[in-house]
Amino acid sequence: MGCLNLVTVMTLFMSCRVHRASSWSVNNFLMTGPKAFLTYASSVQLGARGGMQECKLQFAWEKWNCPENTLQLSTHNGIRRATRETSFVHAISAAGVMYTLTKNCSMGDLDNCGCDDSRIGQTGGRGWIWGGCSDNVAFGEKISKQFVDALEGGHDSRAAVNLHNNEAGRLAIKATMRRACKCHGVSGSCSIQTCWMQLAEFREVGNYLKMKYNHAKKLDLDKKPARAGNSADNRGGIANSFRGIARTELIYLEDSPDYCVKNQSLEFQGTEGRECLKGDKSTSLQRERKSCRRLCHECGLRVVAKRIEVVSSCNCKFHWCCTVKCDKCRQTVTKYYCVRKKSGRKTHTIKIRRRERARRT
Ligand SMILES: *[C@@H]1O[C@H](CO)[C@@H](O)[C@H](O)[C@H]1NC(C)=O
Ligand SMILES: *[C@@H]1O[C@H](CO)[C@@H](O)[C@H](O)[C@H]1NC(C)=O
Repeated sequence: MGCLNLVTVMTLFMSCRVHRASSWSVNNFLMTGPKAFLTYASSVQLGARGGMQECKLQFAWEKWNCPENTLQLSTHNGIRRATRETSFVHAISAAGVMYTLTKNCSMGDLDNCGCDDSRIGQTGGRGWIWGGCSDNVAFGEKISKQFVDALEGGHDSRAAVNLHNNEAGRLAIKATMRRACKCHGVSGSCSIQTCWMQLAEFREVGNYLKMKYNHAKKLDLDKKPARAGNSADNRGGIANSFRGIARTELIYLEDSPDYCVKNQSLEFQGTEGRECLKGDKSTSLQRERKSCRRLCHECGLRVVAKRIEVVSSCNCKFHWCCTVKCDKCRQTVTKYYCVRKKSGRKTHTIKIRRRERARRT
């Protein structure tokens, strides 16, 4: 079958190389009908990409800073992982797809779906009734399941974990939804309101899932935990391990690899060369303020400052009517980067000691 153009969305999840290796999951897709598939494919792709953009942003100042593509979701080189990080990737991708499709639905982009009008006219609470356009999350959820969950073709514990995390991502969309209302009544008296449920900003979904990532739970498979991923266990077989874990929580099976070091097989670049922030305490977030320590020092690297000239717009003036004219200003700013230390041996011991300390804390 080679690299199908038809299956554009697959290219997002897998390179062609990988794609071929798992062409069985492509076949699964096509069985549901190429026409239905194509109707939503581009929106699915946009949604998954939006999810990954949010991932990049959420992890901008972390050692692991989100893959360029979502190779880690796939069966690349036969290595499938279920780490804390892949749990986030699964959740945010599934959420991104659900989010975009739900929005598409509310915007009237798609023929066969519209706002969720199931409760219109019903009383919602004291002084308000359901009205307006509630975002149709059920639709987005269904499409996200059909597309994203279908990528998980295996029947082992990793597949089960990945599917759980996809679901947790979709639940994050629901958990962050808000009720919005509009007042009615004589001269704005607001004696009656109509309300509808609307999606939060996707940033909020990202924040929510980042918090779930911080509290992700490692699943203890009673026996053979290391090999479980590639065994022939069926999904039902590990159901017991899932008991007591809420569907909203992210779960993983394997400890994260050392994200300080470059690892070709994981397509991870390591932190050498990364920029970190040495901000003014008042203006930056705590995660950002500590980024040099996290990315450089904890990885046995040192921080170098580089003076860099940036050109930006400045002295902008508004001219009647209606243009804005700006000057180009050159400004030298200091940026910080992680670089390797000069001597070899000594830094290695420091590195190990530091990491042990980090592990203890
Ligand atoms: C779905 O929404 C995205 C933006 O949110 C838009 O770019 C895309 O074109 C929409 N899909 C369709 C089928 O209109
Ligand atoms: C890369 O990651 C794999 C899988 O975790 C591991 O087995 C291997 O030792 C790592 N390689 C390096 C150079 O760290």
